Amino acid sequence: MLLSLIAPLLSLAVVVFGQDLSTATVKKAFDDASIPQDIELKFDPVALLEVTFPQNDSPPVVLNAGIMVPRNDTAGPPKFGVIGDVGNGPFVVATVDPDAPTPADPTEAQIRHFLGGNFFSNNGLLVNNTPAISEFQQPTPPAGSPAHRYIFMVFHQPAAFNQQKLINSSSSISNFNISVFAREVGLGEPIAGTFMLVAPPS
Ligand SMILES: *[C@@H]1O[C@H](CO)[C@@H](O)[C@H](O)[C@H]1NC(C)=O
Ligand SMILES: *[C@@H]1O[C@H](CO)[C@@H](O)[C@H](O)[C@H]1NC(C)=O
Ligand SMILES: *[C@@H]1O[C@H](CO)[C@@H](O)[C@H](O)[C@H]1NC(C)=O
Repeated sequence: MLLSLIAPLLSLAVVVFGQDLSTATVKKAFDDASIPQDIELKFDPVALLEVTFPQNDSPPVVLNAGIMVPRNDTAGPPKFGVIGDVGNGPFVVATVDPDAPTPADPTEAQIRHFLGGNFFSNNGLLVNNTPAISEFQQPTPPAGSPAHRYIFMVFHQPAAFNQQKLINSSSSISNFNISVFAREVGLGEPIAGTFMLVAPPS
């Protein structure tokens, strides 16, 4: 259903591969990975979130939901795109790791790897006109842990978002709670998302 909207976004990237192609597939991947229950947010995407990690000497890595990405390729910062009929913004983008320090004992979760507002769609590419609240932090799953899930979500931005006082650039990125944050600032549910798995370097 969304394929016709992908072409303009494709033309913006040098090389694109692996991206999500259907909201149903993304939703199933989230459900199969227990993400909605683990982060306590309903996930019924109406658009696709394209997350692209630029690389030094090779084509960019484009996520599809559940892809395993070598940590070395996740330095970022990632670029975001939204494919779907969701308007031009503003949008909020959040990235969380619910598996820190380990999926079996996530006592530090969630880790907030990115949180930013004031993203607007420019032909599908999301561009923010303010600094992020939490700039992107590269995944650092500790040695011995299985791979962690890194979950990227986009929300419609509520009118008062820029006045929110819950999280700022000096807030700890540990023990974040996206469902509580979403409820407190009125984000609602994500309109799109994707996720990657990253294991500790061997
Ligand atoms: C990944 O590692 C290789 C060599 O170890 C390095 O040349 C390359 O720049 C690294 N990639 C990133 C994105 O840091
Ligand atoms: C961030 O929020 C804390 C707690 O509300 C506050 O004490 C601190 O001054 C804020 N820092 C900035 C840079 O706004
Ligand atoms: C987030 O908050 C909800 C509601 O208070 C709670 O049930 C859940 O355990 C919290 N999650 C984390 C990771 O702290």
